[in-house]
Amino acid sequence: MTTLAVAVSFLRAEERPLYLDSRQPVEKRVEDLLSRLTLEEKISLVHADSKFTTAAIPRLNIPRRWLSDGPHGVREDIGPDSWKPAGHTDDFSTAMPCGIALAATWNPELARVEGEAIGQEARSRGKHIMLGPAVNIMRTPLCGRNFEYMGEDPFLASRMAVGYIRGVQSQEVASCVKHFAANDQEWQRDSINVEMDERTLREIYLPAFKAVVQEAGVLAVMGAYNQFRGQHCCHNDYLLNKVLKGEWGFQGLVMSDWNGAHDTREAVLNGLDLEMGTSKKTYDDYFLARPFLEGVRKGDYPMAVLDDKVRRNLRVMFVTYAIDGRQPGSINTPEHQATARSVAEEAIVLLKNDGAALPLDAAKLKSLAIIGDNATRLQCHGGQSSEIKAFYEITPLEGILQRIGHDLNVTYSVGFGKGVAADAGDRAVQAAKSAEVALVVAGLNHDRNADTEGSDRRDLKLPYGQDELIRRIVEANPRTIVVIVAGSPVEMGPWLGRAPAVVQAWYSGMEGGNALARVLFGDVNPSGKLPCTFPKQLADSPAHALNAYPGTNGTVRYEEGLLVGYRWFDTKQIEPLFPFGFGLSYTTFEYSNLKLVAGQDANGPAVTAEFEITNTGSREGAEVAQLYVHQAQPGLPRPVKELKGFRKVFLKPNEKQTVSIPLDRKAFAYYDPAKAGWLAEKGAFTILVGSSSRDIRLQDNFQLAQTTVEK
Ligand code: BGC
Repeated sequence: MTTLAVAVSFLRAEERPLYLDSRQPVEKRVEDLLSRLTLEEKISLVHADSKFTTAAIPRLNIPRRWLSDGPHGVREDIGPDSWKPAGHTDDFSTAMPCGIALAATWNPELARVEGEAIGQEARSRGKHIMLGPAVNIMRTPLCGRNFEYMGEDPFLASRMAVGYIRGVQSQEVASCVKHFAANDQEWQRDSINVEMDERTLREIYLPAFKAVVQEAGVLAVMGAYNQFRGQHCCHNDYLLNKVLKGEWGFQGLVMSDWNGAHDTREAVLNGLDLEMGTSKKTYDDYFLARPFLEGVRKGDYPMAVLDDKVRRNLRVMFVTYAIDGRQPGSINTPEHQATARSVAEEAIVLLKNDGAALPLDAAKLKSLAIIGDNATRLQCHGGQSSEIKAFYEITPLEGILQRIGHDLNVTYSVGFGKGVAADAGDRAVQAAKSAEVALVVAGLNHDRNADTEGSDRRDLKLPYGQDELIRRIVEANPRTIVVIVAGSPVEMGPWLGRAPAVVQAWYSGMEGGNALARVLFGDVNPSGKLPCTFPKQLADSPAHALNAYPGTNGTVRYEEGLLVGYRWFDTKQIEPLFPFGFGLSYTTFEYSNLKLVAGQDANGPAVTAEFEITNTGSREGAEVAQLYVHQAQPGLPRPVKELKGFRKVFLKPNEKQTVSIPLDRKAFAYYDPAKAGWLAEKGAFTILVGSSSRDIRLQDNFQLAQTTVEK
């Protein structure tokens, strides 16, 4: 370089504003850019300018910011000014299995890989913030959005969500965890007021949010539609200002759910940083648009409050290189499709397999009757905001046909569904009778009052008379395999006793049919475990047993408190249909030699549980070893056990592996409202290690030497 050229480039660097220099620390860039914004420009950054965007500020190189649902992939483009699809032809993407399926893999590393793929696709589609994951707790099996969430246990949901978000955010894309908080039913979701005690909030409904803030550095949080203690969650002083930003130190942005903001003053003062989707005539009428601007001008709101919101928005932009520009991502790649298939395969839960009815032997099988609306139904583009315009979708029927690929005699009969012929059931029973094996692909779908946003289910029963149909099919053909496609528990009482094999397949994304076929024919050994309890009947489930759903006079009280899911079933000694953590395999695993190694130094784990798992069968497979903690004499009542660790191990036949699960003091603690902290009490604990919450294989006692309280 000549001296002149060096001088010129030096000068240019001098003129270049600091915030455009990507080598500068993010906070410096934020302050520099903030100082250059006019009041109007600041306001434009805290509310939408279309269904899923915020305005660009071209003079300062600030791009239009694009948000997208989430969480099962990158949704088709919507709007700009309505919920109608934009009608684009290039917005197909990889459709991952639904959230509860991801949780059923119990594989946080796979969640990270899925997140990474979604992040790459988001970047490829020009999206800056992905609206997911969704980590609301399954309080009732009826909640219409259970399929999007990660089940009933806060520890499992935390581990899976942390993995997923690390993946997404490794791709210069922000994750927006949702819906903060206690958005556990769709019934009256816009207005219902949720009341619960502080300990329940801290132990059950907040941990997944806290984990993703503190461990995954999630960049955005979406407020929930419902109210919490009388104030809407999108501008809830306690949840947003005190807990999220105050106690947890969240530095990212809080956005509203779409039309979840209701008041300018509350939105300004109670922690909302970005208002989306409000039902107003123009974007300028949004609570955080003109009314906020005028309020600042009049001195009703201090500039510092606006600046804090703008800083949070800018910070997310800088961290994700929205202003610097990002490399193009990749979309619909074979790798992403392979990830969709891996998740679907690892998610499938084998619920019953009497007499080794599964796997089927394709070489020996002569005829197969496939029955059920869910064998041919496309599911990816359903359920509302989490829908994906899948690049393709393999249905169960297609997956099976592709897998068998020879002249096996296969019939298909719809059997049940909306508007089927009156004799559809009889024909299906006949088909089952004539075949060597009958395969019923039963379950729910994304229709209203099934697994969908906007409404809850009315009961736990399979719709369209499926119970009666399956009962008849099982009677007609004792070699009947039942596959349940659903995102939440269903009752199986009327036929479970006589069906030799039952498989929970969830909504398993674009590769679901292939994954299912590979499990049914034994190419893949199932390793999924239930992330939620399947009750025998609705009345066994806590919120329903206590008549504490869906609430009265606009308020729902979480009377069951901590006793959600297995915490209730175990403590009350109620036999579930299938317990939390349950799932069979085509092989067998033996657990042995539990050793509890006490922590050596104050900063390390309090104790490490070490044990061995051996694959004692003849197929390779994976087992999810689960670790639960029981406290002998807690100062306040506790559930009989709580999940505090798990590990998925992949083993060849006869292979043995030592598993080691460290437990910190938190694993022994409960939230003590009087101390406003996590109390780990000195005394006796039992460490329980098992293959499900009801199949404990090893246990040992442990003495915690000291009482401690942590924030
Ligand atoms: C849902 C959110 C979603 C948003 C945008 C709302 O109805 O509750 O989960 O991200 O719409 O589609």
